Amino acid sequence: MSAERAQEIDIHTTAGKIKDLERRLEEALHAGSQRAVEKQHAKGKMTARERLALLLDEGSFVEFDELARHRSTSFGLDRERPYGDGVVTGYGTIDGRHVAVFAQDFTVFGGSLGEVFGEKIVKVMDHALKTGCPIIGINDSGGARIQEGVVALGLYAEIFKRNVHASGVIPQISLIMGPCAGGAVYSPALTDFILMVQETSHMFITGPDVIKAVTGEEVTFEELGGAHTHGTKSGVAHYEAADEVDCLEFAKALLSYLPSNNMEDPPVYDTEVTLEITDADRELDTLIPDSANQPYDMHTVIRHVLDDGDFLELQAGYAPNIIIGFGRVEGHSVGVVANQPMHFAGTLDIAASEKAARFVRTCDAFNIPVLTFVDVPGFLPGTDQEWNGIIRRGAKLLYAYAEATVPLVTVITRKAYGGAYDVMGSKHLGADINLAWPTAQIAVMGAQGAVNILYRRELAQAEDPEAARARFITEYEDTFANPYIAADRGYVDAVIRPSHTRVHIIRALRALRNKRKSLPPKKHGNIPL
Ligand code: HXC
Repeated sequence: MSAERAQEIDIHTTAGKIKDLERRLEEALHAGSQRAVEKQHAKGKMTARERLALLLDEGSFVEFDELARHRSTSFGLDRERPYGDGVVTGYGTIDGRHVAVFAQDFTVFGGSLGEVFGEKIVKVMDHALKTGCPIIGINDSGGARIQEGVVALGLYAEIFKRNVHASGVIPQISLIMGPCAGGAVYSPALTDFILMVQETSHMFITGPDVIKAVTGEEVTFEELGGAHTHGTKSGVAHYEAADEVDCLEFAKALLSYLPSNNMEDPPVYDTEVTLEITDADRELDTLIPDSANQPYDMHTVIRHVLDDGDFLELQAGYAPNIIIGFGRVEGHSVGVVANQPMHFAGTLDIAASEKAARFVRTCDAFNIPVLTFVDVPGFLPGTDQEWNGIIRRGAKLLYAYAEATVPLVTVITRKAYGGAYDVMGSKHLGADINLAWPTAQIAVMGAQGAVNILYRRELAQAEDPEAARARFITEYEDTFANPYIAADRGYVDAVIRPSHTRVHIIRALRALRNKRKSLPPKKHGNIPL
């Protein structure tokens, strides 16, 4: 808005004062230059306000600090003081539920974070924590505002501190919709969920130019820190969105499974379920192949037990040997953790352990029961795993299950071998209801490995070692490759037909609705990191 218009307004009258306010607010709405907005659109990106309009219920947005401006005078910054200072903050509703939001505005100073920009985010985070509502941050920024120096760094740390204090209290969701580089990545990293957009969002600690200068490696922005990289290689991103609309829609869907804060339960949706066994339920009776070495898709089991088969999978492209995500049973949110026999036979490795551990802790923090489906031959062997710390890093999953106080229901569909049996939501770690299918095999190890150890001498001396091995394997399988020894001890509460799983889970979760459990008082645990 032009300076001429400001001069036309007589601010000494009430009507003039109102006009002056309108002029300022109008100016704030168009803080970024037309050229910057066009550049943003040309990249396939929306502006901060366009994004918020799609994220929030229509007309629900209430803005904070629309008229805040930076106070910096260095490097000619005092000649340009746009309203809002490059970030739009406030609160509104999503599906009628209160949320706090900030959206970095790349069209103003490249969305770079200066003192006032940082203070605005701090204020909206404090608002979210104080009122117990989720906070959704849209990141699109050139990082610390270079002209503001250490003040910008200080504000980043103020934000990090609040991310940590809010952790486990209110859900924090980060949408990466442009650059997010250097130390700036650590605010999203501290939040519960990171959603990225293919091609237009990038996260890295040091960019391609610095990498080239220091290590000589040549890498593009997308290869280094694009959505696909973080969705498959690093595990940083929970969702790889096809475009910005997809990203915003996913954030809304995600929120529908979460409570507003750790003192509340997630929203419950009206759903009719039948306790009769349906034809769809019966499909599970033929899912498990006769051969234990043949894979099947664990998604089939998951979809058969969740309401309408709806499963919001997270980190689908990372460590696919374990599946995590949200669904509902009888309208109530559940978190699902499941081994996936289609990838590495469902073995647990470092990546899978950390992925699942983080998710179990997220569910536990936000009062969401955990449903675990087990088909795991054990931990992945190898020097790579050992030297990278499978001992310390695999322990995280065990820790997460053992400290969880939310309802835990575990179904063993097939293999549950060795330490992995213990880790995957076993009764001994604290699961409430443990079920097994008749196809379950619960033992210290698989038949091949066991026979090699138990009958080493006999096999060496046998006239026909292969025939002897086959005999020993059959004997071992007939003894151990079943759920009945565990059932005999009460380690599983029931052995059920696969087709009865959905109904058993509904009944179990109903029974556990009022579960109360607490851990010994402590400052905090010391999870192996
Ligand atoms: C001030 C910045 C800025 C910054 C961008 N701009 N980043 N202003 N401080 N950090 C300004 C540009 O000068 C430009 O202004 C406008 O924003 C748009 O930027 P462009 O470069 O034209 O956009 P684009 O070509 O899309 O490139 C985007 C970019 C690039 C890759 C992000 O701007 C860039 O490399 N910026 C610097 C990134 C960086 O090194 N930041 C510091 C990281 S360290 P005009 O007026 O020309 O439109 C850090 C530490 C945080 O952030 C520590 C926390 C602990």
